[in-house]
Amino acid sequence: MKLIIDTDPGIDDAMAIAYAAAAPEIELIGLTTVFGNTHVDQSSRNARFLLHKLGLDAPVAEGAPYPRGADAHAPSKHVHGPEGFGDITEIPQVGSNHTRTAAEFLVDQARAHKGELVVCAVGPLTNIADAMKLDPEFARNIKRLVIMGGAVYCPGNITEHAEANIYHDVQAADAVFASPADTVLVGLDVTLKTLYETADFEALAKRSAGMGAFLRDISKFYLKFYKDIGGLEGCGLHDSTAVIACTHAPMFDMVETGLRVAVDGPEIGATRPDPARPKVRVCRDVDGEGVVSLFTDRVASLP
Ligand code: RIB
Ligand code: CA
Repeated sequence: MKLIIDTDPGIDDAMAIAYAAAAPEIELIGLTTVFGNTHVDQSSRNARFLLHKLGLDAPVAEGAPYPRGADAHAPSKHVHGPEGFGDITEIPQVGSNHTRTAAEFLVDQARAHKGELVVCAVGPLTNIADAMKLDPEFARNIKRLVIMGGAVYCPGNITEHAEANIYHDVQAADAVFASPADTVLVGLDVTLKTLYETADFEALAKRSAGMGAFLRDISKFYLKFYKDIGGLEGCGLHDSTAVIACTHAPMFDMVETGLRVAVDGPEIGATRPDPARPKVRVCRDVDGEGVVSLFTDRVASLP
């Protein structure tokens, strides 16, 4: 499966990129970067560093530094650390970004691989909305759009109502849900059922001394956030679960509904069913243990 991950790495983003590199079904066409967990230049640097560490020479195309029509959000340093990788703050610049912007790269690749390309968006949806604006055929040229975002039937994580990726660009998210793209939403409804615990990271690091140990090291900060804020003993495999949904749909229970995003007001960022909108497959339940063990088995194969 030809895949582009639109990402703001970010600790769980790093895990998703490692999973994609290890998954035999996935051909990673490239990464596009966006603000979110980090400033966009940090996202791009981290993405290039990860690809280098994974031995992949896929391109990184840099995208939006800000949300649409709104002020910049501060990066989520309290969740992902000052540079996006927890306590690890010395992250070298490796290589350089692609000459095309993220939106241009998405449009180009969707045309080049018409009907074949899956886009997995695991950050704010600004680049995806920009690609849809740049090329009105983009939504139909891609095979599928799989989004990590939203909290349709459960509370949010950045506010009571909103999940972080949607909240960070409400206009873009609402525009994407109005598009004709074949869309799957992998939100907190399922990603908080895929908790990855300290013992899982230790087991992973034992089996994969390079990438597994790196993910364990960057995740210590993230695990502390989950413990301090929610009393949870693990962190959600948010972005990895979305990548797994690209190739392992039977692990998920999905319902079809249109979606609307509250773009202002007290529930800003909420993702709510709207029957008048194009149908999206919303994941309502997941084989959480299956996702955790698939993630471990695949990533453990990395050096
Ligand atoms: O709400 C979880 C999402 O927000 C993930 O994509 C995580 O990386 C953060 O950006
Ligand atoms: Ca992310």
